[in-house]
Amino acid sequence: MSQPIRVVFVCLGNICRSPLGEGIFRHLVEEAGLAHQFVIDSAGTSAYHAGEAPDPGSIRVARSEGIDITAQRSRQFKRDELDRWEYIVAMDPANRRNILRLVDNDPEPLRGKLWLMRNFEHEEDGSGHDEGVPDPWGGGPRGFEDVYAIVERSCVNLLKSIRQARGL
Ligand code: 4NP
Repeated sequence: MSQPIRVVFVCLGNICRSPLGEGIFRHLVEEAGLAHQFVIDSAGTSAYHAGEAPDPGSIRVARSEGIDITAQRSRQFKRDELDRWEYIVAMDPANRRNILRLVDNDPEPLRGKLWLMRNFEHEEDGSGHDEGVPDPWGGGPRGFEDVYAIVERSCVNLLKSIRQARGL
């Protein structure tokens, strides 16, 4: 069997946005019957919430769509795992910068694998816009439902893009 495709979703706290990325993407992959072809994870560029379960807002909105993310635990994304991922999907430009700082802002080791979630929101090839997924933590004007809808749209196209690239 070919090597699994390794995909990680990265936000700041790994309690709100990237747990939804991980949960939604895994759900889509399972629906497509491709679970054995993927390794999927999420992480935060900070350790603020390391060891914690996802935010209750993310758990609730995922559950309302039939996705259980309660077993996930927050962890910090580390420099030594950069090599292990083929797709590193940052939830916003600030966290993409945080990831680039791990390689002293040298984009070369990350070329072709560091993306923004919303690059895929409306484009299957990842050429879409550069906005961040809004941070719902602490209750901003945009809630977890908005985040869910953005991340779901983006994950659908991300999976299409990977399937196209891998002939799956
Ligand atoms: P996330 O949301 O990055 O989507 O998990 C946040 C969670 C916690 C904090 C910021 C954003 N925080 O500052 O603790």
